[in-house]
Amino acid sequence: MTLNFSERRDLLADKVLEDSAIIVSAASVKSRISDTEYSYRQDSNFYYLSGYEEPESLILIRPNQDKERFIIFCRDRDPLREQWDGFRTGQEGVIQDYGADAAYSINSIDEIMPKLLEGAKNIYFSMSAPCGVDAKISSWVEDIRKNTRSGAEPPQNLLSLDSILHEMRLIKESNEMDLMKQAANITTEAHIRAMQSVRPGMYEYQLEAEYLYAFNKNGARSPAYNSIVGGGNNSCILHYVENNAELKDGDLVLVDAGCEYKYYASDVTRTFPVNGKFSPEQREIYSIVLEAHKQSMEQAKPGNKWNLMHEKSVEVIVEGLLSIGLLQGSRDEIIEKGEYSKFYMHRIGHWLGMDVHDVGSYKQDGDWRPLEEGMVMTVEPGIYILDSMEDVDDKWKGIGVRIEDDIAITDSGFEILTPDVPRTIEEVEQTVQG
Ligand code: GLY
Ligand code: MN
Ligand code: MN
Repeated sequence: MTLNFSERRDLLADKVLEDSAIIVSAASVKSRISDTEYSYRQDSNFYYLSGYEEPESLILIRPNQDKERFIIFCRDRDPLREQWDGFRTGQEGVIQDYGADAAYSINSIDEIMPKLLEGAKNIYFSMSAPCGVDAKISSWVEDIRKNTRSGAEPPQNLLSLDSILHEMRLIKESNEMDLMKQAANITTEAHIRAMQSVRPGMYEYQLEAEYLYAFNKNGARSPAYNSIVGGGNNSCILHYVENNAELKDGDLVLVDAGCEYKYYASDVTRTFPVNGKFSPEQREIYSIVLEAHKQSMEQAKPGNKWNLMHEKSVEVIVEGLLSIGLLQGSRDEIIEKGEYSKFYMHRIGHWLGMDVHDVGSYKQDGDWRPLEEGMVMTVEPGIYILDSMEDVDDKWKGIGVRIEDDIAITDSGFEILTPDVPRTIEEVEQTVQG
């Protein structure tokens, strides 16, 4: 199924209660200092429903209105500002190019919005979006309330748009899947490029530069999240982003880096030896993680509960750690008491889409939800053995391994979106040495 933005709005309109208005705000601009801003990225919900990328804008959908059903508030055209900051679409432009039935200046929103909301019983908005629109909605509703004696009817219910919109975003349309595959392909090229260029003595940020170069060169203008490039003990720090240490001969480097392409994320981790050859201990740990990755992924099919993949990864990792003596005792007891979590402390993965940790619930009515065709997720088991761990033989210390790929659930199983990133020990060694 491929939908355009207006079809998505229609589908959403069918899912809300009668007599509702839907409000979605653009992402806020974040100031860095004085007139310098952090690079702007549109809010995913806003983009998903409009395709419109400019800041300081807001969309209003009124499903029960015949006229002015889809309204965009946006910045005014302004030749001077456009000379300094770039093109603005303006009100005429959003009607023409973005299918708005009407458009107003964002500067007059406080005057106009109360009139447009009057008569709606319910207002839906995203309660999870950090844009402060909830306070604005309260003040618009308050303005309507002031006129009740003249017959104005204020909305009665403020409702969360999140569960409805997030469920839509969770199941990817075919055009979204195409974009995710393009993001995955660019990320694949970046990982191969980095593996081919790693050398002892290089700094983590220099390896990171290989990713950024490959992303940008291919039109993916930013990573989907801050890249993690950790050598040696840094590979054991889950959200390590300093990326400023030297890569040492004999160490592994763990790189968790994925690009965003046209609003869609990829999220891939590879762990490889800086000198091109896994040591026997690194090989042992890598093999356990690889087996966990493989067996978890085999649980990915429609109807299987989300948690099965995680449970499988725990079983394989616990059995592996028992076999090399890093855990001792009974497998079932270790699993039940969570004693493996000092080595494997995160879950098997997460939904992936417009955001790296994408929207969509993992449980329904208190139980793990079954997988469905069109869901996209990561599979990312790992084992991390910090230098500072007590009761661990020194030979294992400073080894952190994660293997992460992106998969889509199909009608009968799964498809790997990142099949060509070197994964086995042989493939990885060949690529680094080659
Ligand atoms: N890169 C973030 C994650 O793997 O979840
Ligand atoms: Mn990742
Ligand atoms: Mn991930």
